[in-house]
Amino acid sequence: MRGEVTIDLTGVMAEEIGAAHGLSEADLRRIEPDLVRVASEIADLRRRGMLEVLDLPSVREDLDRIAEAAVKSHGFRNFVLLGIGGSSLGARAIFEACLSPFHNLAPEGERGAPRLFVAENVDPDSLDSLMRVAPPEETLYNVVSKSGTTVETISQLLVVWDRLASSVGKRAAEHLVITTDPERGFLRRLASELGIRSFGVPPGVGGRFSVLTPVGLYPAAVAGVDPLELLDGAAQMDERCRDNGWRQNPALALAGVHYAFDRLKGKGITVMMPYADSLRSFAEWFCQLWAESLGKRTNPAGDPRAPVGQTPVRALGAIDQHSQLQLYVDGPNDKLFSIVAVHRHRAEVRIPETTLPGVREEGLGHIPGHGLDELLSAERSATEMVLLGSERPVLVVDLPEVSAFSLGQMFYLYEWATIAAGMLYHVNPFDQPGVEEGKLLTHAAMGRSGSEKLAERIRSHRQRPDRHRIR
Ligand code: PA5
Repeated sequence: MRGEVTIDLTGVMAEEIGAAHGLSEADLRRIEPDLVRVASEIADLRRRGMLEVLDLPSVREDLDRIAEAAVKSHGFRNFVLLGIGGSSLGARAIFEACLSPFHNLAPEGERGAPRLFVAENVDPDSLDSLMRVAPPEETLYNVVSKSGTTVETISQLLVVWDRLASSVGKRAAEHLVITTDPERGFLRRLASELGIRSFGVPPGVGGRFSVLTPVGLYPAAVAGVDPLELLDGAAQMDERCRDNGWRQNPALALAGVHYAFDRLKGKGITVMMPYADSLRSFAEWFCQLWAESLGKRTNPAGDPRAPVGQTPVRALGAIDQHSQLQLYVDGPNDKLFSIVAVHRHRAEVRIPETTLPGVREEGLGHIPGHGLDELLSAERSATEMVLLGSERPVLVVDLPEVSAFSLGQMFYLYEWATIAAGMLYHVNPFDQPGVEEGKLLTHAAMGRSGSEKLAERIRSHRQRPDRHRIR
């Protein structure tokens, strides 16, 4: 078995932090029937082929085309992903986890891949600056949108297309790769009418669950990250999640613990705190997945439309020890903490012995001679200990190292756990009615025909008297 991601639940148990804030055997017995129900529902849906997202680790048909397209991308100086939410966060997490943070600054010959950028927002300052450092004529754009209609992504595309059309003329289409629904939508139509290279997102896989499709795998390949490693890691986790007992199934345990803390212990906030810069964007990916999938009106029989969901927060060790930790330790005890530990870092940096004056005399003589990884791990233990000492529940997710393989495990683990949590809360983890409403209002505000009533509502919202403005 290759290096496994494991989860240590010791710090969430009552025996560690007391019965008021920790899980007792009685608490576990209370949620156990729900976990049994969810595990069998998931197994049943999978048997009937109705949970496509969990079968993605074995979907490998696109890999040859992805590899071939990735080779072509190397003729460009820059690769820019245009997309937002589930269409961008996974690729960003992959870039950040698997490449040097200074990839774009490395000399051309050393990089082995184009410079990589992810353009998510429609802040004019950002897109304008990006087009200055990465001029469209030297750039390959991967336009990613499952629906093919998201206003931010389409607007970005129109801006870069205009620049491409005037700079490279008929060759503009060669600067695009589209990832979208295999059959429908504006982007699919564009790809087929202009002969633009494209990939399909399986119809049953929604944006935030799509990182293990060409949405994440093609940018990974462009960056030189092996998509097969991501899928193999996910497949290994898939095997482990086939066990129906929560004590053996890491994703079921993760879902159950989050759910139990929210429902039984009043922990409405979940903080993910990796101790590795390379996992900062992974935590962001997790936050979107958890928030957009679970923040819903629940709909079990007899309890219609009660709002549920746990607020995900991202923090970064050790940086947030000097920012958030005080609140976490002494503020309201309303959070569950997931500390993500990495056991082998790629680089080894030792703090050297020194002749600098005053180091020993000022009580700092114990620092030289250690590795920075030792320091980071000491900081992680310190954070765990102060949190536990203050009766805060802490679970630890252990990664042997940050690699495409372990990241594949993590993506799959959290996707499975999110689906299971949705079933525990009795919400549909795959829809996002609140987001869709915002999308409709935005299109209306921009003048979409047929949306006049919505546009009128927006006008009156914008013109409402601002009696409470402080001037
Ligand atoms: O998870 C989701 O469904 C959303 O976050 C979408 O990914 C996001 O709204 C972008 O949508 P699309 O991929 O259709 O452009």
